[in-house]
Amino acid sequence: MFASSSSSSTTPRRRWFLEILLAAAVLQSGSGSGAALAEPVPPLDSVPSSLDPRALPNSPSGSYAPAVVACPAIKPAIRSARGGLSPEETAWLPIRRNATIDPMLDLLKRANIPAFDVEAYINAAKKNVSALPNIALAVSGGGYRALLNGAGFLAAADSRVTNTTGTGGIGGLLQASTYLAGLSGGGWLVGSIFANNFSSVETLRNGSPGSSVWKFSSSIFKGPAQSGISILNTASYWDDVADQAASKVDAGFETSITDYWGRALSYQLINDTDGGPSYTFSSIAQSDQFKQGQTPFPILVADGRAPGTTIISLNATVYEFTPFEMGSFDPTTFGFVPTRYIASNFSNGVIPKDGKCVEGFDQYGFVMGTSSSLFNQFLLQNITSVAGDVPDFVVNAITGVLTDLGNDKNDIAQYMPNPFFGWNPATNGAADSIELDLVDGGEDLQNIPLTPLIQPVRSVDVIFAVDSSADTTYFWPNATALRASYERSLFSKIANGTLFPPVPDADTFINLGLNQRPTFFGCEVKNFTLQEGQVPPPLLVYIPNAPYTAMSNVSTFDPEYSDAQRNDIIRNGFNSATQGNGTLDDTWMTCVACAILSRSLDRTGTAVPVACAGCFTKYCWNGTLSTVNKGEYEPTFKIGNETTVAATSAGVRGMSSLPVSGLVVVVMGGLVGLFLLV
Ligand SMILES: *[C@@H]1O[C@H](CO)[C@@H](O)[C@H](O)[C@H]1NC(C)=O
Ligand SMILES: *[C@@H]1O[C@H](CO)[C@@H](O)[C@H](O)[C@H]1NC(C)=O
Ligand SMILES: *[C@@H]1O[C@H](CO)[C@@H](O)[C@H](O)[C@H]1NC(C)=O
Ligand SMILES: *[C@@H]1O[C@H](CO)[C@@H](O)[C@H](O)[C@H]1NC(C)=O
Ligand SMILES: *[C@@H]1O[C@H](CO)[C@@H](O)[C@H](O)[C@H]1NC(C)=O
Ligand SMILES: *[C@@H]1O[C@H](CO)[C@@H](O)[C@H](O)[C@H]1NC(C)=O
Ligand SMILES: *[C@@H]1O[C@H](CO)[C@@H](O)[C@H](O)[C@H]1NC(C)=O
Ligand SMILES: *[C@@H]1O[C@H](CO)[C@@H](O)[C@H](O)[C@H]1NC(C)=O
Ligand SMILES: *[C@@H]1O[C@H](CO)[C@@H](O)[C@H](O)[C@H]1NC(C)=O
Ligand SMILES: *[C@@H]1O[C@H](CO)[C@@H](O)[C@H](O)[C@H]1NC(C)=O
Ligand SMILES: *[C@@H]1O[C@H](CO)[C@@H](O)[C@H](O)[C@H]1NC(C)=O
Ligand SMILES: *[C@@H]1O[C@H](CO)[C@@H](O)[C@H](O)[C@H]1NC(C)=O
Repeated sequence: MFASSSSSSTTPRRRWFLEILLAAAVLQSGSGSGAALAEPVPPLDSVPSSLDPRALPNSPSGSYAPAVVACPAIKPAIRSARGGLSPEETAWLPIRRNATIDPMLDLLKRANIPAFDVEAYINAAKKNVSALPNIALAVSGGGYRALLNGAGFLAAADSRVTNTTGTGGIGGLLQASTYLAGLSGGGWLVGSIFANNFSSVETLRNGSPGSSVWKFSSSIFKGPAQSGISILNTASYWDDVADQAASKVDAGFETSITDYWGRALSYQLINDTDGGPSYTFSSIAQSDQFKQGQTPFPILVADGRAPGTTIISLNATVYEFTPFEMGSFDPTTFGFVPTRYIASNFSNGVIPKDGKCVEGFDQYGFVMGTSSSLFNQFLLQNITSVAGDVPDFVVNAITGVLTDLGNDKNDIAQYMPNPFFGWNPATNGAADSIELDLVDGGEDLQNIPLTPLIQPVRSVDVIFAVDSSADTTYFWPNATALRASYERSLFSKIANGTLFPPVPDADTFINLGLNQRPTFFGCEVKNFTLQEGQVPPPLLVYIPNAPYTAMSNVSTFDPEYSDAQRNDIIRNGFNSATQGNGTLDDTWMTCVACAILSRSLDRTGTAVPVACAGCFTKYCWNGTLSTVNKGEYEPTFKIGNETTVAATSAGVRGMSSLPVSGLVVVVMGGLVGLFLLV
């Protein structure tokens, strides 16, 4: 199949091909298993159970490189999206939904909705899971700004975090949620939490001696500062990163800048030696806590880039990564590959008789890097100037990738072989391509990972969508991400049966303050025109980044945050999530409960409690427009300046001062604009 490619044959590609042949020969001669080419596969149960990690260092190579393995008895295959959810997700959901009942009830009881017996309601509904509220959380892209602001929200939603279940607290929302999706910087947050034993934001923020996790005071370009489990200096840090990437090439796989970026990210996000090179994303599914439904279902999002194109439009295929599968419900690819076996030799959806199985390609940092691949350029541009003493060979290795790949692919993550080779050729634009190019999930402007959550098969009732996009001159959101998702839902072809609540223009958001406080969209079910059997889309609770107690509009390109600044932004996000622990609105917590219940009440034909009607009047966008542009948007503190340090890069005028030089120029104008957005 590789011979049919029009793509130039490079050494690594040929090596991959040879390796497959060699592995086939080994298998056929019966002289060993496919794993003979790699280090012995460490059995899963060799992982000390006392650590109980959420993700596991289970790559068959024992390190960063993927490896050819013996195929399981039932060979992995591409699954059509026509079947709805995967059997694995379908089996997992009742376990999780059951586990959400107690935390949800606890949260709703604390909300104290007058004249509504929430306990009786939930107890009746729990006999029939489909009547229960089904909650999802989504965290946008936007680099460290998005990670930190999103972290503030997740901290407030997490009943394990101090002071989240008192007055005005929304603690337990995380425990009551079914899905937790992240994209780009939001994917770093979601990824980090799941890679680290489903740790709370508080635990990650506090860190631990010798760990570089969440130590953003050490620039990602310079590497972790501490010794102990981490490395010692910038040169050896990049040395290790380059060695790991090289090991992937040596194993016969292509690499892209994303491999380097993903590795560098991991040192900050995964609390293990060298950022856990052998951790895989699919391993989340193998850990006990996940199996027992003790956590939500993590989803990371990336976009597909059609072969031969550079612009990502709203019609681009949106891919999701879950512990079980990677693929898309979009009517283009319309299929899924088991995440664990991503780089196996699929052709027309199956592994041919002599085709090989590969594990370890879903390396954890690589998946996080894929969702945030726009930052490849951040790396390219800063590796020498910011990092300092990076060995020449490392810089050459990184820029050398582009010699093979081409400069216009400096923002891609390369998935080769393409699991969807030959799959759905009539609609899948990449079906003929031996490689699948994935890019940052925000490149189609849908900077909040909502596509997976509005799929009717997932039956989500409410999405809490945290938006830390930098849309305006001063890096605040104006809901561009929501408009993109709404617009996409109007292209019936790509929408493929998904619906999205209408949202207004940017000026209306700014003039009505809809980007400065939580706003609900899609409150009125009767406003949707539903086809036979179609259900209304989820209610959207939009939580925009705004200055509550800190100017959290830091530049996407600030690679360094003191602990104090990091904590200030997290606290700001916490205050946004709780409306200052209820001080801005003491009914906020009740209104969160009403948003959770809304679709369920509708479904069960239950009258809306009076208090909830009041919440909906207050928080729902009612269709009013205010489209006059009133100039630069420069919000002031909603609670007060409680920052402990001067925020170095906040409020910097961005658009005009962005140095457009070097490699950025290689990318088309549109992408330069996008770069500012995420
Ligand atoms: C449902 O959850 C409850 C409380 O967590 C637990 O005791 C029970 O065993 C669960 N039931 C099922 C069928 O998983
Ligand atoms: C479960 O609840 C849903 C929504 O309220 C309802 O449509 C369905 O008929 C119920 N099923 C059973 C078995 O009661
Ligand atoms: C928890 O809340 C109490 C009362 O408001 C406050 O004194 C204490 O500092 C808070 N603890 C934390 C860790 O925020
Ligand atoms: C990091 O991992 C070490 C070793 O497993 C553990 O002791 C420590 O608590 C972890 N730190 C954090 C912040 O999770
Ligand atoms: C997406 O495709 C539809 C046709 O299905 C077309 O009308 C629309 O213009 C396309 N949108 C973009 C942004 O390319
Ligand atoms: C770092 O990269 C960003 C994004 O490409 C760029 O705007 C910035 O100027 C770079 N910083 C330096 C010091 O090169
Ligand atoms: C909204 O954000 C987009 C970028 O996402 C920007 O182009 C546009 O000018 C902004 N509009 C307003 C009114 O802020
Ligand atoms: C979704 O896409 C698939 C694959 O193209 C198609 O068969 C199906 O009819 C579409 N569903 C809707 C509701 O448009
Ligand atoms: C709300 O509570 C959190 C956690 O205790 C605290 O960090 C924050 O400062 C409080 N916010 C306000 C406005 O008091
Ligand atoms: C709709 O909301 C606007 C403010 O956002 C308010 O002025 C107006 O009165 C509301 N209209 C109705 C019918 O509630
Ligand atoms: C929903 O429909 C009502 C009645 O047609 C209308 O007044 C209202 O503006 C609509 N809501 C939105 C958000 O468009
Ligand atoms: C907020 O306070 C910090 C110091 O506590 C100060 O450096 C900063 O300038 C203040 N920010 C604003 C916008 O007033």
